[in-house]
Amino acid sequence: MSKSILVTGGAGYIGSHTVLQLLLSGCHVATVDNLDNSSEVAISRVRHLAGDSGKHLSFHKKKSNEARLKKIIYIKIFLNCRFDAVIHFAGSKAVGESVAKPLLYYNNNVIGTIILLEVMAAYGCKKLVFSSSASVYGSPDRVPCTEDFPLAPMNPYGQTKLMAEDICRDLHRSDPEWQIMLLRYFNPVGAHPSGLLGEDPRGIPNNLMPYVQQVAVERRPTLTVFGNNYSTKDGTGVRDYIHVVDLADGHNAALNKLFEKDSKIGCEAYNLGTGKGTSVLEIVSAFEKASGKKIPLVFGERRPGDCEVLYAATTKAETQLNWKAKYGIEEMCRDQWNWACNNPYGYGKSDSNTEDEIISTKTKASDSWFSDVCITS
Ligand code: WQD
Repeated sequence: MSKSILVTGGAGYIGSHTVLQLLLSGCHVATVDNLDNSSEVAISRVRHLAGDSGKHLSFHKKKSNEARLKKIIYIKIFLNCRFDAVIHFAGSKAVGESVAKPLLYYNNNVIGTIILLEVMAAYGCKKLVFSSSASVYGSPDRVPCTEDFPLAPMNPYGQTKLMAEDICRDLHRSDPEWQIMLLRYFNPVGAHPSGLLGEDPRGIPNNLMPYVQQVAVERRPTLTVFGNNYSTKDGTGVRDYIHVVDLADGHNAALNKLFEKDSKIGCEAYNLGTGKGTSVLEIVSAFEKASGKKIPLVFGERRPGDCEVLYAATTKAETQLNWKAKYGIEEMCRDQWNWACNNPYGYGKSDSNTEDEIISTKTKASDSWFSDVCITS
């Protein structure tokens, strides 16, 4: 698929993994990122992993979140390239932070999306894959969640995702030329099997898996389990964890659908999950097995805004996008640990190795994986 794709937030956790898969599938990719919660090191590593296709990746640093300047940056990018579609990852994504700083979230996630859509419309680019979230479901009465469940976010982060979805639905209703895929991620975890790409949250991790990872590499002493008195198998919260590479492939599948001859998607939501629920304690146990490390636990109070159980119904994406998650919890923990022990401080400089040393060391280890991907993709 030699399409030209603009990826906003392409230096981020899911964005970088998706950009790599797009390059390996033959796309030309421009990505823009403000690097607030990401690193330009990820871009250079994506180029490296993409091999010869890495030359089809351009990176544009978004120097400001200020709306006017954001619009100017998007216009400059669209002046330089005719894009066939846009994948929109850019935004803030910490649930707790969204409660403390709602205006930041409405500005970044809602106004930021409106600005992008205005520029896309001005340049006649009306194919969009939007990074939505399972948090639009809030705390459903039952599981698994199908895409037609009531949408009732429990925090400003989820509300911004629902508002952006509603804007997309209204935009399509106003102009059916818009073809929009709303991808609702469940809980992205894991890392690229090469050990060169992974999640690198700023400050104290909000999410479970990066926190567990930081305990395992002794950056944090213990993991606090937020509540163990839920009506679940072991009393702890249950979620649908999905490997970030599966999630990246889901974006490729969504783009393929958008470009299918005579495809009239309209504006459709798809769950990207595995359809399986895993508890906090099951994640801890799987990570201990993968890492050989003990994760000391403290049992604390429930976290405000948390639901008890949330996992996806996956039939719609399987049948309409011909996409199904391939990896299980074991591979997610294996790859997360491989990333952690090779990058204990994320993309920040590790104590001893320079960036070139990290890449060359990991490349030797990952050559088999890399050649497999090149042959099969
Ligand atoms: C998972 C479970 C916690 C941390 C959010 C967003 C979602 C997506 C993923 C962006 C829960 C428990 C966590 C800790 C714990 N974000 N936990 N101790 O809240 O399900 O989903 O992040 O795409 O949209 O809503 O993810 O990883 O924060 O929590 O016990 O230190 O782990 O209570 O049961 P969540 P999470």
